Amino acid sequence: MHRIAIIGAGYVGLVTGACLASSGMPVHCCDIDTEKIGKLSRGILPIYEPGLEELISDCSKPGKQLVFTTDLKKAVTNSDILFIAVNTPTLENSRCDLTHVFEAAVSIAGVMDGYKIIVIKSTVPVGTCRLVKQRISDELSRLGKSYGFDIVSNPEFLREGSAISDFFNADRVVIGADNHDAADIIKSVYTENAKCCCPMVVTSLESSEMIKYASNAFLACKISFINEIASICEHCGANVSEVSEGMGLDNRIGRQFLNPGPGFGGSCFPKDVMALAGAAESYGLEPKLLRSIMTVNSEQTARMIRKIEAATGGLDGKTVSILGVSFKPGTDDIRYSPSVAIIKDLVSRNAAVRVYDPKALGNLKKENPELKVRYCKNPYSCCSRSDCVVLATEWEEFADLDFEKLKSIVRQPVLLDLRNMYPPDYVKKLGFYYEGVGKK
Ligand SMILES: NC(=O)c1ccc[n+]([C@@H]2O[C@H](COP(=O)([O-])OP(=O)(O)OC[C@H]3O[C@@H](n4cnc5c(N)ncnc54)[C@H](O)[C@@H]3O)[C@@H](O)[C@H]2O)c1
Repeated sequence: MHRIAIIGAGYVGLVTGACLASSGMPVHCCDIDTEKIGKLSRGILPIYEPGLEELISDCSKPGKQLVFTTDLKKAVTNSDILFIAVNTPTLENSRCDLTHVFEAAVSIAGVMDGYKIIVIKSTVPVGTCRLVKQRISDELSRLGKSYGFDIVSNPEFLREGSAISDFFNADRVVIGADNHDAADIIKSVYTENAKCCCPMVVTSLESSEMIKYASNAFLACKISFINEIASICEHCGANVSEVSEGMGLDNRIGRQFLNPGPGFGGSCFPKDVMALAGAAESYGLEPKLLRSIMTVNSEQTARMIRKIEAATGGLDGKTVSILGVSFKPGTDDIRYSPSVAIIKDLVSRNAAVRVYDPKALGNLKKENPELKVRYCKNPYSCCSRSDCVVLATEWEEFADLDFEKLKSIVRQPVLLDLRNMYPPDYVKKLGFYYEGVGKK
């Protein structure tokens, strides 16, 4: 039985740790954030991810072992395979900040007590796994230790909101390694223990690192593409929902990621596209397409703000209700959320902004303590006396809004549906001024 340590108990680390532990593997989840580990040890989840609470609580049953700790030595000495799943944020120059990855690697070297397989699960630029290998070797030599180790790249493709099902029903597992034996052991973690039966793609370290970036850049590109098509549709009379449907039925194109909206966000797409573009520039290349993905994306958010401004007839003094703050439904993650960018812009232009989200209001408050918005308890209190209701994130709970009730409580019946969630004719019939994205 493999003994696993997960270094970094965030969205990726927690889900990976809980899924592996639920398959019976002993797992130590280690983080430097004492508050986070304290909460987890008391059974309180620091993040919202559907099904995760139940899965973690299931891991406390006999025969399962999921330990939360800040003690790296305990995690490392009780494990053979160490997954590094720390955050890799964006530096001011748009490059990937590897500080946490290197810190974790060097700390691991400091407490190693024998051969380990060290798996880089964080998204890292091509070449990072080799740098990590060098840092660990250097640290072991400095400490006079001569333990062997292998580095494996195993990027993560889970989607927040469906992360557990993505783990057990992955499209593929990508494993990059120099050493075939180490790659086979990581394969067996997924196949024998976690019972994943998807294709396993075994590559070089560099290809594996690039597969992650190229995949995210491609998906982001699809979103920016359909957003650009949506804005053309608004001028020529085509309906982007019909266009997406018609395009998506072509197997070469596929239906997913062809939904227009206020722009992509989240902890991955923006930072990964920027990091890949930055890496390309460091090789003297001009990554025109990658740069355009980002330009179209920020322009899309700005376009949504202009729509809100036009629909309210000027923002100053108007009350705008924002439904949905997280970057997508099913998560409390607000990193790079277009909704947050819209909220901040509206506040800066003297709109009175009311916000509601089923899970993400705590993070909005925590990350923006100075932000002057009214936090509301449900969609109806959020829309009360509103001059404009903006559907920013398509949470399921918003699908069943009672529009007759809504009409009776707003000041102006204006609905901007930035996710094309509602049938325009139905909403218009009830007397709302309605605007979606990419359609009349
Ligand atoms: N969130 C996603 O949907 C997703 C999907 C695929 C890949 N990724 C990638 O996975 C990585 C992790 O992302 P995340 O969203 O889980 O990040 P996160 O910010 O939610 O969690 C990272 C955790 O690592 C901890 N940490 C930092 N330095 C540490 C150290 N030296 N030792 C122990 N713990 C440390 C932090 O305290 C934090 O709890 C990133 O590279 C990200 O790009 C994320």
